[in-house]
Amino acid sequence: AHVVAEPCFDCKYTDCVVVCPVDCFYEGAQMLYISPDECIDCEACVPECPVEAIFHEDNLPDEWKDFTALNAEMTPTCPVINEKKDALETESCDQSRKKG
Ligand code: SF4
Ligand code: F3S
Repeated sequence: AHVVAEPCFDCKYTDCVVVCPVDCFYEGAQMLYISPDECIDCEACVPECPVEAIFHEDNLPDEWKDFTALNAEMTPTCPVINEKKDALETESCDQSRKKG
């Protein structure tokens, strides 16, 4: 499955959710999560994220390995999100945003 990692935290751009064919994104207070039971690994969401927060679990950078379990644990506690909404646009998020 694909996993939402640290760059999403305090950002929530939500560009990812509109392209997911199976609506498997769930919205937490500070970031989004992908349900590992529902994700079909289509990769459509990966290039949509402006801060490159989404990875296949096998490609997660070492420092973010814990996010696989976090996504699995959090999705059952959060509502589905499948429509774009305003990003959090926090200072920490703006600093990591990809140029262009
Ligand atoms: Fe949805 Fe595809 Fe991204 Fe999985 S890889 S979360 S199915 S868009
Ligand atoms: Fe988060 Fe990127 Fe989606 S910041 S909400 S994973 S577009």
